Amino acid sequence: RTLATESSKAILDVTPPYTKLVKNLAEVRRVIGSSSGLTLAEKILYSHLDNPAELSGLTSIRGDAYLKLKVDRVAMQDASAQMALLQFMTCGLESTAVPASIHCDHMIVGEKGADTDLPKSIAGNKEVFDFLESAAKKYGIQFWAPGSGIIHQIVLENYAAPGLMMLGTDSHTPNAGGLGAIAIGVGGADAVDALVDAPWELKAPKILGVRLEGQLNGWATPKDVILHLAGKLTVRGGTGYIIEYHGPGVQSLSATGMGTICNMGAEVGATTSLFPYTKSMTDYLAATRRGPVAMAASQINKDHGFLQADEDAKYDEVITINLSELEPHINGPFTPDLSTPLSKFKDAIKENNWPEKLSAGLIGSCTNSSYEDMSRAENLVKQAEAAGLKPKVGFFITPGSEQIRATLERDQTLNVFEQAGGTVLANACGPCIGQWKRTDDVKKGDSNAIFTSYNRNFRSRNDGNPDTMNFLTSPELVTSMIYAGSTTFNPMTDSLTTPSGAPFKFTPPTAPTLPAAGFERGNLSWTPGRVVPHPSTPIAVDPTSSRLALLEPFPPFPAHNLTSVRVLYKVSGKCTTDHISAAGAWLKYKGHLENISNNTLIGAVNAETGETNVAYDLDGSSMGIPELARKWQKEGTTWLVVAETNYGEGSAREHAALQPRYLGGRVVLAKSFARIHETNLKKQGIVPLTFAEETDYDRIKACDEVDTVGLYEMLMNGGKGEVQLKVRPRQGEEFTIPVKHTFSKDQAEYVLAGSALNLLGKKAKG
Ligand code: F3S
Repeated sequence: RTLATESSKAILDVTPPYTKLVKNLAEVRRVIGSSSGLTLAEKILYSHLDNPAELSGLTSIRGDAYLKLKVDRVAMQDASAQMALLQFMTCGLESTAVPASIHCDHMIVGEKGADTDLPKSIAGNKEVFDFLESAAKKYGIQFWAPGSGIIHQIVLENYAAPGLMMLGTDSHTPNAGGLGAIAIGVGGADAVDALVDAPWELKAPKILGVRLEGQLNGWATPKDVILHLAGKLTVRGGTGYIIEYHGPGVQSLSATGMGTICNMGAEVGATTSLFPYTKSMTDYLAATRRGPVAMAASQINKDHGFLQADEDAKYDEVITINLSELEPHINGPFTPDLSTPLSKFKDAIKENNWPEKLSAGLIGSCTNSSYEDMSRAENLVKQAEAAGLKPKVGFFITPGSEQIRATLERDQTLNVFEQAGGTVLANACGPCIGQWKRTDDVKKGDSNAIFTSYNRNFRSRNDGNPDTMNFLTSPELVTSMIYAGSTTFNPMTDSLTTPSGAPFKFTPPTAPTLPAAGFERGNLSWTPGRVVPHPSTPIAVDPTSSRLALLEPFPPFPAHNLTSVRVLYKVSGKCTTDHISAAGAWLKYKGHLENISNNTLIGAVNAETGETNVAYDLDGSSMGIPELARKWQKEGTTWLVVAETNYGEGSAREHAALQPRYLGGRVVLAKSFARIHETNLKKQGIVPLTFAEETDYDRIKACDEVDTVGLYEMLMNGGKGEVQLKVRPRQGEEFTIPVKHTFSKDQAEYVLAGSALNLLGKKAKG
C-alpha cells in the first residue's frame, strides 16, 4: 500500500497539471476575446500565464506583449547550476517552489573511455559536485550524479511531458519539445525566478510553423530535417520565434527523433521548438515508465485538443518540408548553418579545399544518443564488420544516459562498437563541450576534419584545436564515414573495397525505435529517488576555495537619491556580455563571484583613449578596470559606466550584471540597452538609464561625478516619474541632463530592495 502511494505520488510529480492548464486557457480565450484559433505553442504558453487578465485589451500579443509565466519545472547543468544555486540561497528559502533537477554532465572529460575518464573527472571537480549535491539535498532538488547522463536526455526520459512548461540553464533545453513540452534555455537568474515562484517574463514569441509532409526513408533521418532547416534559416533566422512543427509528416517520427529536431532549434536562435502530441510520444512515455502521463495527455487532448494546434491556427510564417524527398545533410565547418546535401558534399570538399581525410567520427551527445540512433549505427557497424571491414579512424560513442548505456550493453550494441574498435566514453557531454582530451592523433594547429552527430561546431568547441573542422551530421553518416576514412565518401552511391578485394556497399540502416525488452535502469546509485528538503544539511563550500564562494545579499538602495557617483569608464562602441564578463578560461570561476569579477569589463574600449581595459584614476594613474573598481569601492566611492548602443547584447549571462554590482557599480548610462541585459541589471539592483539626448554622451567623461535627481522618487513611485542627472565634470561647469528609463513597478521594487532576489526572498518568506 505504501509503495503504491509512493509511486502514484511520483507519477503526479511528472504529469503536467492539465486540468488547471485547460481552465487557465479557457480564461485566456475569454479575456482576449479572439474567435480565431491558437497554435500549440500559444496554448501551452498562455495556459501558464500567472494572470490571464494581463492580456486584456491588447491588440497584438505575438511579438509584442510581455508574458508573465509560471513554469512547471527547472533543470540545471553542473556549470550553470553553481551561480543559479548560489543566488537562490540568498533568498533564504527552505526549498524550491517548483520541482528542479541538477545534472552533472559538462565537466566530464572524454579521453580513454568511461571507466578511466569518469573517476578522474569526479576527482578533478570534487568540490563543485559536492557543493551541488549538498545544495540539492538541502533544498529538495533531484541530483543526477556524474555518470548518470546528459541533462537533456535525462529530462526526456524522466520529466518532459506534452504540455509541460520548463526552464533549463542550458541552450539545448528545447530538446524536450520532442515530447510536446515548451522548454526554454535561460540564464541562472531566470531559473531562480521559477525556483522562488516568481513569474518568469518572456516577450511573446512569434510562431514559425514548419509543416512536415511525407515520410523519411533510406538514409534520411530526423537530424536532416533540422540540418536542412538550419541552412534555410541561418543562425539568426529563428530569433524571436518558437518553431512549431505540424502536418501529416509528424506522425511518422519517433519521439527521440523529434527531440533531436527540437534540440538543434537552438542553432537557428529559436526561443524553443515543439511538436504536437503523437502516438510515438505515447509509446516513448510508456517505455520510460510513464504510462499514466501518456494516459492523462491522451485524455486531455481528446477532450480539449489541448496538445495540438487549433485547425484554424495561424502561423506568422510557414515553411514546408517534404520528408519523402529529404536528402541527408552535412553542416559545417565552424557554423551549423552551412548546410550541404550529401550528394553535393564531395564537390564542396574539393571547392573549399577542406580535408579529404577524415580524422575521427563521434556519435552520441544530447542531440543523437537515443536507442534508435545507436541501434541504427550498430546496424551499419555489423554490415561493415561482416564484410571484413574495420574503421579507418577513431570512433567515439557517448551514450546520453545511464539508462541508454545499460540498455545498449544488455542488447550487445556497445559490444559491437567495442569489438569494432570504438571507444565508449562516459555518459556525459565530454567532446561536445571541449572536454575531449585528444592526445594521440592530432596536435593543436593541425588542420583536420571530424564528423560528429552533435549540434554545435564553433571553432575549438570539441578538442580545443581551432583548426579542427567539425562537420555535423546524423549518427548513421558518421558511422559509415569512419569505415571510408574519407570525407568525400557517399554511402548512398559509393562502394568500399573489402580485404578480399570485393566491393561493399552499405544498405540503408534499419533498427527499432524502442528496445523490445524495455529500458534497463543501469547504475541506480547515480539516480535520485524522490526527494524532500533537508534544511539542516550544511552547504559544502570550502572557505578557501578558488572556484566556489557563498553570496551575500546586496545592500538595499539608500533612502535618498544617489550622490557623487563617479564615472569609472566611458565605453566606446560594442559592449556585449562577453566584453563585460569574458568566458573561456574564466568559466571555472563561475561559482566564485570575487574571482570571476577580475574579468569585469576587460573587453571594453576606453572612449577617451581607444585602449582596452585601461582605466584612469583621479590622479591620472592607469590600471585595469576591475582594479580601479575595487580601489574606488574600498575608498567608499560608488560608480557608473557610460556606454553607447545595445549595451549588453549577446546573452542572458547574469555574471555581466552581478559583477559590476558586486564591485560597487550603481548605474549604467547608455545610448541603448539589449533588453535582456537591461532586465538583468535591474534584477541585480543596478539602475540602467538611457540618454534622452544621445549627444549628451559626448559631454560626460571618465571621473566626472553624478548626482541623481528624481531617481529615488521614481523608484518609490513604482517606476513612474522623470529622472535627471546632475553632472560635475572634472573641468568646467556643472550641468544637468535628462535621462530615460523603462522601470516597471516590480523592477523598481527590485532596485529598492537591493536586488530581485532580496525582494523575492522577503516575499516568499512572507
Ligand atoms: Fe552537453 Fe553538448 Fe548537449 S555540451 S548538453 S552534449 S550540446
